[in-house]
Amino acid sequence: MENLKELLKNRRSIRKYTEDSISPENVKEILEAALMSPTSKRSLCWEFVVIENPEQLEKLSHCKAQGAKPIAGAKLAIVILADPSKSDVWIEDASIAAILIQLQAEDLGLGSCWIQIRNRLTENGQSAEDYVREMLGIPYGMEVLSIITLGHKNEEKKPFDPDKAQWEKVHIEHW
Ligand SMILES: Cc1cc2nc3c(=O)[nH]c(=O)nc-3n(C[C@H](O)[C@H](O)[C@H](O)COP(=O)(O)O)c2cc1C
Repeated sequence: MENLKELLKNRRSIRKYTEDSISPENVKEILEAALMSPTSKRSLCWEFVVIENPEQLEKLSHCKAQGAKPIAGAKLAIVILADPSKSDVWIEDASIAAILIQLQAEDLGLGSCWIQIRNRLTENGQSAEDYVREMLGIPYGMEVLSIITLGHKNEEKKPFDPDKAQWEKVHIEHW
């Protein structure tokens, strides 16, 4: 287990994965992280679909024109869904669950990448959300935010350098 600062520095988007599977214990830890995430008014508006089947992962990777290829090579993907009728801030609720999945994965030494689905299109102009919804039988009313790909890292990325942090983004007392 890394300390939080190291974890935050080391988490990078990993898009290439080895053939090694993720252990069921690790999958459980990752899903627990999502299920423990905070939601506004404790709405618990999120739901998650876990995909491990390689053929399904390949099909899912066509959910948008660009930027979804890592899904095909991932060992596991978690589709992040939320029910807007349960929370008016479902995007925030679901985003927090998604990033906690990524941080838990990093803490287990695994790589992950956020694949944006909401507001994105497939190659032939269909909404990426509808593509995912139809493919996975997700009921209408549930929104698809993103897909988090997971696997053992097969690429190296430099940790974030805190000296390069953009301190000019921080405003003290007023803009
Ligand atoms: C909201 C959001 C959407 C993203 N969408 C994609 C995506 O569709 N495909 C992808 O490969 N990476 C995606 N990323 C990953 C970003 O490209 C990545 O976080 C950014 O380039 C910084 O790199 P780092 O994560 O290694 O620090 C997304 C990240 C966020 C936060």
